Amino acid sequence: MTRTVHTRVDLAAARDSLPGRVAVVMTMGALHAGHEELLRTARQQADHLIVTVFVNPLQFGPNEDFDRYPRTLDADLEVCRRAGADLVFAPSVTEMYPGGQPAVRVLPGTLGEELEGATRRGFFHGVLTVVLKLLNLVRPDLAFFGEKDYQQLTLVRRMARDLDVPVRIVGVPTVREPDGLAMSSRNRYLSAPERRTALALSAALRAGAAAAAGGLDNEAVLATAHRVFAETGPDARLDYLVLTDPDLEPGPPPGPARLLVAAWVGRTRLIDNMPIHLAGPDGPVNP
Ligand code: PAJ
Repeated sequence: MTRTVHTRVDLAAARDSLPGRVAVVMTMGALHAGHEELLRTARQQADHLIVTVFVNPLQFGPNEDFDRYPRTLDADLEVCRRAGADLVFAPSVTEMYPGGQPAVRVLPGTLGEELEGATRRGFFHGVLTVVLKLLNLVRPDLAFFGEKDYQQLTLVRRMARDLDVPVRIVGVPTVREPDGLAMSSRNRYLSAPERRTALALSAALRAGAAAAAGGLDNEAVLATAHRVFAETGPDARLDYLVLTDPDLEPGPPPGPARLLVAAWVGRTRLIDNMPIHLAGPDGPVNP
């Protein structure tokens, strides 16, 4: 049975009644098949699963989509039930921030100002602050985050390490539509033509990954990804397309690396990324 609570007092009591290893998946609701897979993975690796559903105002900029972000709690509860969640915590904004916006926040450091942080000022302050609050309220043994939001996952890992948060952070690979588009709550904003344009992101990443597997160097991998992006989505507006090491440091050496992209499709900003394996100067390296 899946129980739903809306207050921190009820959450604390319900949490205390769950024995064994507890996993959390934090979400902003509007749950899709990607979230559901994340929930199932978490459920399998723990004795109990707690899901949080909270559209966090702190991580939306003044011109972003906080007001129009989809809110579908009844359908979300059904997804949580199907995935075997024990408890859903769905607080109101005043329950989470009773004194208004918190004066003390988590500072994400330089990585928080790059990539997503460069376009969305203050975004990762808002994300890390709510993630730390939810970790303190839920007290999980494990916390699962999607690789879909790779910079978020990287920063949450770093926060847990730097601030000694007693939780194990687990990353889960991105779930995609059959044609490659990464599942996202924001995909529902896309019109039919925009939905086709949105394929530019995953197509560019795939082309880059294939170029890397074929032994091309960093520059050629990026050039290939750029060309396929422009060909697949001539109407999309690229924000960034970068190659980093697995910790998001620039200039990756041969071996495991990450290719990340962000772009505007109409009024909708989409992100995606993929693991790739870079060849050394002497050609492909064995993974
Ligand atoms: P949200 O965008 O709802 O995502 C919740 C979790 O689901 C995140 O860990 C995200 O990476 C993961 N996810 C989303 N789409 C996915 C996909 N296609 N495949 C795999 N995992 C996917 O990320 C947030 O909410 C918020 O920033 C939050 C962490 C809840 C803090 O407010």
